[in-house]
Amino acid sequence: MFESLRAVPADPILNLSILYRQDTNPNKVDLGVGVYKDEAGHTAIMEAVSRAQELILVEEDTKAYVGMAGSKRYCDLLAQTTLGADHTVLTNNRFAVAQTPGGSGALRVLAEFINVAKPGATVWAGNPTWANHSPIMQSAGLEIKQYPYYDKDTKAVDFDGMLATLKAETKAGDVVLLHACCHNPSGADLSLEQWQATADVIKAKGLLPYVDIAYQGLGEGMDEDAAGLRLMAKTVPEMVIASSCSKNFGLYRERTGTAIIISATEAQAHLAQSQMNGLIRANYSMPPSHGALVVETILADPKLKQMWRDELKTMRKRIKHLRSQLVDAIKAEGVEQDFSFIERQHGMFSFLGINAAQVDQLVNEHSVYLVGSSRINLAGLNQRNIAYVAKAIAAVL
Ligand code: LMR
Repeated sequence: MFESLRAVPADPILNLSILYRQDTNPNKVDLGVGVYKDEAGHTAIMEAVSRAQELILVEEDTKAYVGMAGSKRYCDLLAQTTLGADHTVLTNNRFAVAQTPGGSGALRVLAEFINVAKPGATVWAGNPTWANHSPIMQSAGLEIKQYPYYDKDTKAVDFDGMLATLKAETKAGDVVLLHACCHNPSGADLSLEQWQATADVIKAKGLLPYVDIAYQGLGEGMDEDAAGLRLMAKTVPEMVIASSCSKNFGLYRERTGTAIIISATEAQAHLAQSQMNGLIRANYSMPPSHGALVVETILADPKLKQMWRDELKTMRKRIKHLRSQLVDAIKAEGVEQDFSFIERQHGMFSFLGINAAQVDQLVNEHSVYLVGSSRINLAGLNQRNIAYVAKAIAAVL
């Protein structure tokens, strides 16, 4: 039965970590996978997470099953964190929510949910988008089409192209996949005016917004990074949201995410919850508990919550600082090409805007690891490697 199977190509992002680990060059730099690193190049456990784990070690008294949607307290806190506690969607009870195995788990659950509501629906994803979006949507039975998003010449969002495609080529019942903030891979985000204009088109055409929020708090702030999404949820009757605690709580391997479905009425939200729970039961039965327990312990405790917010702010400020430092360091190498766009972008990622051969040179001749699209993770830079990286970039231009 298995003799005809073919190998799947290596994952363009996760495979970089394997190559990086195998490289013996002492100067190697990992700007590949989107994990936050501190000045020592370490993805440390956040202090608030460690404190919460100590509490859990003492207080947790059962390992019995959780429900299909996970912990009710986690779900409530995450809905508030994502939408804002006073959002009318929450006060009107027009939502369903489930704790999921990471943001990817949320994306998959929601994709399957959409496929139940509208089998084979078309999902419009930005060009480019996160490399795993298409595989997740297609595995759930959905079809992927693209709208223009990042303009390689202006190094900014091609908003006219995006809106024109959404207006002209979509049909009612199509899905529009959007990044709430810290666009992965480009770092180019929509302004609030652009969110509103997008929401107006989505509403007028009867489309379903599907918002991926994987980097809340790593761009401008927890509320600022969710502002576009919240505005969208005020404008449209139905929407789905996949959120992740991998980056903002540093819980990558604990697989902690949230799927939120916004329905037009409270009664429809109940139906959505029942469908979502059924899909989860038939897939992984229920989510892992530990990461979500850590998150709810932090969010429910004012002191731990403040500690976590402060740590997140430090991370955010460090990434911003590295952005301007990299621009300066490249300039200091005598490069005339303008890289100042890196300073204007948000979150962990930006494209260098170099071609595939130049990316190969960076990886193979300089041991600077980045995604083939020229996406770099700014958080992989530090005071020891930034000059080396700038020199390597200058050398391949
Ligand atoms: C990334 O884009 O690097 C992260 O989201 C990690 C992943 O799973 O791809």
